[in-house]
Amino acid sequence: MEKVIFGGFSELPPLLSALSPYKVAVLTDSNVAPLWLEPLLEVTGAEPLIIPAGEEHKNVNTVVSLWEKLQKMGFTRKSLLIGLGGGVVTDIAGFVASTYMRGTLLGLVPTTLLAQVDAAIGGKTGVNFNGKNMIGTFYVPDFVLVSHETLSTLPPEELMNGMGEVVKYAILDRSVYKLLTGLHGTSPTEGLVRECINVKLRVVMEDLREGGRRRVLNLGHTAGHAIEKLSDYSLKHGFAVAIGLMVAANVGEELYGFDPGKVEELLRKFNLPTRLPFEPSDVLGEMKLDKKAWYGRIVFVVPVDIGDVSVEEVDEEVIRRALEAVR
Ligand SMILES: NC(=O)c1ccc[n+]([C@@H]2O[C@H](COP(=O)([O-])OP(=O)(O)OC[C@H]3O[C@@H](n4cnc5c(N)ncnc54)[C@H](O)[C@@H]3O)[C@@H](O)[C@H]2O)c1
Repeated sequence: MEKVIFGGFSELPPLLSALSPYKVAVLTDSNVAPLWLEPLLEVTGAEPLIIPAGEEHKNVNTVVSLWEKLQKMGFTRKSLLIGLGGGVVTDIAGFVASTYMRGTLLGLVPTTLLAQVDAAIGGKTGVNFNGKNMIGTFYVPDFVLVSHETLSTLPPEELMNGMGEVVKYAILDRSVYKLLTGLHGTSPTEGLVRECINVKLRVVMEDLREGGRRRVLNLGHTAGHAIEKLSDYSLKHGFAVAIGLMVAANVGEELYGFDPGKVEELLRKFNLPTRLPFEPSDVLGEMKLDKKAWYGRIVFVVPVDIGDVSVEEVDEEVIRRALEAVR
């Protein structure tokens, strides 16, 4: 599993010494570059690679241009690529590092809450190709440096986006739930980020390739993905997951007597949406098309209690009632 380090950029030099790379390049995007690139270059002496910010650039064209640049730079498989940015950058950096010369060294420095608690952890890489994340690899980075300081420049909407995933971890794990309910204000503490990462690491350690246990991380995502897609991706991932968590909580209420009020309370605390902006039948149709649906049958992560979920095939009518309940 990857080595996750918490701290500032001054943690990087010893990490680099340990890897002793032939060359070091840092990939970042046009928003993060003016904020955090300079201090990182100072301590690493890396060569910068800057791509335009935005999900629309998470594609094979960007990857090809990066392969070309690495080749020109004389990058070898003993060289280190560092991805500095949100999930778009960490996903691309991971994909490029895993494919260039059959795999280079890789370090990630996630700078959004979503990337810190989710995208940069667990070894999934990828780009969009006729669909979201259609092309990708599993590639575990040599290190992930989580610098809490970088969250200080994050726009509030991006922070809320990450909070959707944080609330998911709170349902999966009692200690995250405790931290989150006790949090003053809406900014995540370093301790909270650390706990969320620990939850993901524990799950991924058991199941890197998503055959079994890792599916619990899809809590809120079955409906969430459908909602995101129906909004034509105008609704941010974390916001769609928030509504998806409400749907899951209502399925949990019907099947196990779970209290959806617990989820709603947390989502409201972080000003995340709790109501479905689409027709339940449209969401249901979309859910059946999802790449994780099983021959049109819907496998759902159902909250049983805080810290306890069940992964099971759920009857369509139960899901329909849950969707109606959050309409
Ligand atoms: N690999 C995985 O397991 C995994 C898991 C979840 C999500 N993802 C992927 O992650 C992506 C979403 O990640 P995201 O929400 O971080 O999006 P993002 O990378 O687009 O970042 C969001 C915005 O914040 C900006 N930004 C980043 N850090 C900043 C900072 N510190 N200060 C100011 N602005 C900053 C970015 O430039 C961008 O405009 C999606 O492509 C998704 O598929 C991957």
